[in-house]
Amino acid sequence: MNNLKLSQYISEADIQKKVKELGATLSQKFKGKDVVAICVLKGSFVFYSDLVRAINCDISCEFFGVASYHGGTKSSGEVKVTLDLQNPIEDKHVILVEDIVDTGITMNYLKNALISRKPKSLTTVALLEKPDALKVPCEIDHSGFKIPNDFVVGYGLDYQGYYRNLPYIAQVQNFN
Ligand code: IMP
Repeated sequence: MNNLKLSQYISEADIQKKVKELGATLSQKFKGKDVVAICVLKGSFVFYSDLVRAINCDISCEFFGVASYHGGTKSSGEVKVTLDLQNPIEDKHVILVEDIVDTGITMNYLKNALISRKPKSLTTVALLEKPDALKVPCEIDHSGFKIPNDFVVGYGLDYQGYYRNLPYIAQVQNFN
């Protein structure tokens, strides 16, 4: 894994600035409200932990595990739930926090799965979007950066389980 060549794509400083902006927007939107923020595991755990600390309102945390890549660089097109929410979200304001929208299949699956549980509102947030990779229409309420259709790692995003701990987002130059 160590011989993969990475090039920095989005710096730590730029990510942190964007997270603060998103946090300020969501703090304003949910001022005085009680919200449930859902972390989509595993990819969004780093973004999520920074984002919830940038949101200033009453917030409870839930975790939803899904897998669609199964380790490689292409979506399998099939979403598998690996961990369900611990508590009901019926009648709650919900913020769904994703790392990246690639084909849009996972985000659409998540939206439908959550809407069927009847939240009071559902707000979707994704740090990254790859508009050229979309295979199904997918609207995001708040997104951080739009990027080209390249595979990226870091800040929670992995390649074969590694690189999630990089504090910045990088492009992989050479795959083995
Ligand atoms: P989608 O269903 O194709 O939109 O893919 C969503 C999931 O695939 C994301 O939540 C990520 O976990 C993963 N993914 C998509 N693009 C990348 C990437 O460039 N690097 C790492 N993981 C990715």
